[in-house]
Amino acid sequence: MTTPRPAILIARAVFPEVEHKLRQHFEVESTPPGVFWSPAQLAEKLQGKTGAMTTGGERVDAALLAACPQLKIAANIAVGYNNFDLPAMTAAGVLGTNTPDVLTETTADFGFALLMATARRVSESEHFLRAGQWKEWSLDLFAGVEVHGSTLGILGMGRIGQAIARRGAHGFGMNVIYHNRSRLDADKEAACKARYVSKDELFAQADHVVLVLPYTPTAYHTVGAAEIARMKPSATLINIARGGIVDEDALVAALRERRIAAAGLDVFEGEPQVNPGLLSVPNVVLTPHIASATIPTRTAMAMLAADNLIAYLTEGRALTPLNPQVIAP
Ligand code: DGY
Repeated sequence: MTTPRPAILIARAVFPEVEHKLRQHFEVESTPPGVFWSPAQLAEKLQGKTGAMTTGGERVDAALLAACPQLKIAANIAVGYNNFDLPAMTAAGVLGTNTPDVLTETTADFGFALLMATARRVSESEHFLRAGQWKEWSLDLFAGVEVHGSTLGILGMGRIGQAIARRGAHGFGMNVIYHNRSRLDADKEAACKARYVSKDELFAQADHVVLVLPYTPTAYHTVGAAEIARMKPSATLINIARGGIVDEDALVAALRERRIAAAGLDVFEGEPQVNPGLLSVPNVVLTPHIASATIPTRTAMAMLAADNLIAYLTEGRALTPLNPQVIAP
């Protein structure tokens, strides 16, 4: 008698080659493109499944775990895992995995693209042109703020923060300052040409503040009215981390009153809903959570999540475990 193959759910549509790989090991239920499960639907879909391939949009919390006692692993296609209640997963003996490293450089590229689009008013000027409003060239037409030689302030100096710092320091001759829970060792600081400062100094001195910190409950509204008030009137704020890190109402007020020059946001507190205030101000560049979105990188992320599912459900090990104590208690 042959042992039945484990059953898994791919909770959000993935590229065909990823699904093909998973089908070689598992009974797979996939999700059609454009379909997103509510928490109740997700729990229903996970009945009888030992593995789930998730994205940041699927919450794996105590309620879901209680409803899905057969679940053994949730493999997130994301480096961030604020959609996981990790202590509840550990208590339930469910492994969580994420996708670090494979997206670092691509995400840093986008952080820089968003910084440049924000500083140089790329979206605002394109809308103006498309609307047929361009009548004459003038000296101050969409004049923005400088990128090269300016001060780049990075809040959160993990792998992606360091990759952004390298781009700023080596590519654009920027003066890089950073703040992080712990200071980097001297070698890493030298590689990024980055100088450690306090959080207050970072907001006061930076011409461009880039947020790349992980989203934990303590990071909620790390950037609020007080932090924005410290920024220079010519400064920009770029968020490629998680929306909840910024108090969006405070940011809208500052943008509207031009207390800072502009913002570039790839992530939003209630995404995919966007704070209507942000849609009403011109000096903000808004993108739909695409910082890691290139075909090669999104493929690598999904393949890493697939490899975690395969390694854990067939061999009891994982490549990038978040709560390894579940594997080796
Ligand atoms: C990540 O990897 O965390 C990105 O934000 C995609 O969710």
